Amino acid sequence: MAFREILHYPDPRLRIQALPVARVDQEIRGLIRDMAETMYKAPGIGLAATQINVAKRVVVIDISPDHNDLRVFVNPVIVHSEGVYGIEEGCLSVPGIYEEVERAQKVRVEALDGTGARFQLEAEDLLAVCIQHEIDHLDGKVFVDYLSRLKQQRIRKKLEKQQRLAM
Ligand code: NI
Repeated sequence: MAFREILHYPDPRLRIQALPVARVDQEIRGLIRDMAETMYKAPGIGLAATQINVAKRVVVIDISPDHNDLRVFVNPVIVHSEGVYGIEEGCLSVPGIYEEVERAQKVRVEALDGTGARFQLEAEDLLAVCIQHEIDHLDGKVFVDYLSRLKQQRIRKKLEKQQRLAM
């Protein structure tokens, strides 16, 4: 297992559209392990492969307080969504920024798990938000995109400054 570097907004590689996974093989299982390790170490509650510069449709999520309920979504698709819900979201690719975004309150997602088996999951509230947030990453979207242009500019400037200082 290995910790992978997380891309930070506004890195253009966060805009790459991830491609579906053809088969959950050893390489994908290795990717899932690395993603889980990276998410736990960061620490965060969700990570999309896009964020570690891998253009494959793989997401890991763990919203449990003890970090012992890893959920893996390969090729996730939201097949149903309803309601409106919003919480302050953060993102490992946008460190230090928390903003509320309007999302569906409930989603049904279909995906493959870490063994390649197809499953459906009904999720609501925080888990539903997390699933929507991570699938956005696979489509090259970041939660900042939902904010006003002024807020986006402020966040971009702040993060670019942080990255210069970190060099
Ligand atoms: Ni994120």
